[in-house]
Amino acid sequence: MTYFPAELIKKKRAGLAHDRAELEFLINGFVAGTIPDYQMAAWLMAVFFKGMTATETSELTHVMLHSGRTLDFSSLHKPVVDKHSTGGVGDKTSLILAPLVAAAGIPVPMIAGRGLGHTGGTLDKLEALPGFRIALSLDEFQAQVAALGTALTGQTAEICPADKRIYALRDVTGTIESLPLICASIMSKKLAEGINGLVLDVKHGSGAFMKTVEQADLLADKLMEIGQHHGKRVIALLTRMDEPLGRFIGNAVEVGECIAIMKNEPYLGRPPEDFADTRELTLELAAAMLWVGGASPSLEHGRAQAEDLLVSGKAWQKFAEICRAQGGQLEQLPTPTVRQVVRSTANGYVAAYDTEKLGLAAIAMGGGRLKTSDVIDPVAGIEVHKKLGDAVVEGETLFTLLGGSRRSFDEASAMVVAATTISLQKPVVPSLITKRKVI
Ligand code: URA
Repeated sequence: MTYFPAELIKKKRAGLAHDRAELEFLINGFVAGTIPDYQMAAWLMAVFFKGMTATETSELTHVMLHSGRTLDFSSLHKPVVDKHSTGGVGDKTSLILAPLVAAAGIPVPMIAGRGLGHTGGTLDKLEALPGFRIALSLDEFQAQVAALGTALTGQTAEICPADKRIYALRDVTGTIESLPLICASIMSKKLAEGINGLVLDVKHGSGAFMKTVEQADLLADKLMEIGQHHGKRVIALLTRMDEPLGRFIGNAVEVGECIAIMKNEPYLGRPPEDFADTRELTLELAAAMLWVGGASPSLEHGRAQAEDLLVSGKAWQKFAEICRAQGGQLEQLPTPTVRQVVRSTANGYVAAYDTEKLGLAAIAMGGGRLKTSDVIDPVAGIEVHKKLGDAVVEGETLFTLLGGSRRSFDEASAMVVAATTISLQKPVVPSLITKRKVI
């Protein structure tokens, strides 16, 4: 059936719902080049203002998912699972989760992303390991998942090409912050991996895209609805991102923190106990992945199983195996060569962080990209000496700026100071996991 693009734009502008055929006409036409950017942009803006019904969002996800290749792991005869985080600062759990869950016999085909805005990306972290190949072909990716239980790679042009093109257009037309567009974008990519179960880490707080618990709760509901419509087992954890996760923000240093957790050894002078929050969140997400993957009868059992896989060194062995398979030279993980401490000018307690600003400070130092052509300094980053609620005295170190050069250290120093609130009253710090949602 032929539609008139302008009529479909007007239909959405009027707040009416599209059916699958209309969405196929628009999305497939855009990918094929028969719908021009200006019409797609107008339609996206209409969606931004008028939203979409749950069914419509699910149909949009379906159409985007089928705009490219989808993976099929049914020959493994095992449930296949993955995790998606809505993004944060120091958010490094994927690096431990993929090997840990694979070590339990549950395949994890992880198609990861680059940093977005102030947040870091798993691909940038992996690339800090010299030689690590993050651009596997889909055939290589599938073969490695079958052989080793997991592989980590970047999105290829064959997976969800509609999302790639639409996302680029949203980025320049002020239409990123639309719930149905965000949900369809995230879920189409995850569903294309051929998974049976998905664990969502939906973050809220000053370092998350969703600043409030309520917004995160709504996003979790919408993502879960789509998963359910597509017959997947989904669990969502709402987690605090009002301070960086763990002690390091950056790329090589985040890999270092994860290795320290997996090997239970110190990193850059910090004992593994200092990484308790990263470890805790990773174990909770792992428990959920083991449960949705059917390896554990309950979340409690999954948690015990996850701890066992971590403590026994099995997660570490699997990580080393993945690195060998993908060319990453673990023994050559670079370490920062330049350091500058940032001290407190007040006495009291760390009461709040503007975590987004901390992420942006790390990016300014070369830990991320402001534009796609920017070159990352793999060792650039920030060591966070104080967690929320910690006492601090004047002159004590709050942060150490790290890098391979002093790139933007002065600017970053001012940013991290401005991002830190110290008060005389000890704040109440809530639990890292705010809510678990299961369908
Ligand atoms: N992440 C995505 O992959 N897509 C969005 O639209 C937002 C965040």
